[in-house]
Amino acid sequence: MAIRQTDYVAPVKEGYAHFMLKEIHEQPLTVRRELEGRIQDGLVDLSALEIDELLTGINKIYMVGCGTAYHAGLVGRAAIEKLARIPVESDIASEFGYRDIPWGKDELMIVISQSGETADTLVALREAKKHGTKVLAVTNVVGSSIALEADKVIYTHAGPEISIASTKAYTSQLLIMYQLALYLARQRGTMEEEELKKIGNELNRIDTHIDTIFLQEEKIKQLAERFTHVQNAFFLGRGFDCAVAMEGALKLKETSYIHSEAYATGELKHGPIALITDGVPVITVITQDHLAEKAMVNINEIKSRGGTVFAVCKENLQMLCQNCDELILIPDIHPVVAPVAAVVPLQLFAYYVAVLRGNDVDQPRNLSKSVMIE
Ligand code: AGP
Repeated sequence: MAIRQTDYVAPVKEGYAHFMLKEIHEQPLTVRRELEGRIQDGLVDLSALEIDELLTGINKIYMVGCGTAYHAGLVGRAAIEKLARIPVESDIASEFGYRDIPWGKDELMIVISQSGETADTLVALREAKKHGTKVLAVTNVVGSSIALEADKVIYTHAGPEISIASTKAYTSQLLIMYQLALYLARQRGTMEEEELKKIGNELNRIDTHIDTIFLQEEKIKQLAERFTHVQNAFFLGRGFDCAVAMEGALKLKETSYIHSEAYATGELKHGPIALITDGVPVITVITQDHLAEKAMVNINEIKSRGGTVFAVCKENLQMLCQNCDELILIPDIHPVVAPVAAVVPLQLFAYYVAVLRGNDVDQPRNLSKSVMIE
């Protein structure tokens, strides 16, 4: 359910050691909740949201957010461009305001914000409205500033997210991104109905896929033990996997305080590979069937320079990943919606490394749940 700022109920951990772990484990329920009433026979119908006027005839989308919300927007960009064939520009909100945008007609801004109070995102929203561009907000808090100032709002139903490190709100945001991409594709006739249904039905199964991943939680915890004392880590991915790698790097960075950087796998050889020496940990995400072989060429370059490589890999691609030091397998799901599942091992990994390092997992140093200053 979308939360109101007045709906305060004292949060409880329900037996979990931290809110972050509880909220990671809530995801099968919360992603299921995002789909209620939205998918019929594999086809997405958002007409009840009364956003058709905002979506009709648009020829460009500005996708704006901060941190994890920005990463959700990167997945949204890839999905909307692939399925609905609408160009999408993704930007971090704090930089968006400095661009001299050549605003045009028939454009839409989508802002993503769990709290609905992030100052940088609010500034970007107001910039768009100042230029007559409509704004659709995706937020988790009813009555939040962003919800009140946007032209239309899609509320996520993640429920209160207590841990500063966002997990369930992120995957709820992804579900909204996919629903928008599928709905736009259906409205614009840019995809065969059969393909739309295939992706929609896969979304309908994502809760069971996440449940399957929890069966590897003990293995993920053991991998985390090998990271307890590392100082730096790389996260790599291509295409959809790159956005997941960015979210994985942020999770590890903000909870364990390990300097983690995400790169597009293909970008490593243009400089950053100079940092790869014996034992440097690299986590790669391999879920895009058509990109897996190319990704593994880059991974083998890392291995030949002494890097230690852990892969979050789809079961059907594991033979390609045999040169990796460790594999965390996720179910063989449609590559377009793989990010919703692929991020879960990375959330768990960051959580267990942070716990092993003795950090305040739910309230990491220097961070706040809603950044209301620019
Ligand atoms: C997420 O783990 C971080 N705590 C942070 O990056 C957060 O996503 C960002 O500050 C945006 O917050 P919002 O979604 O409430 O706008």
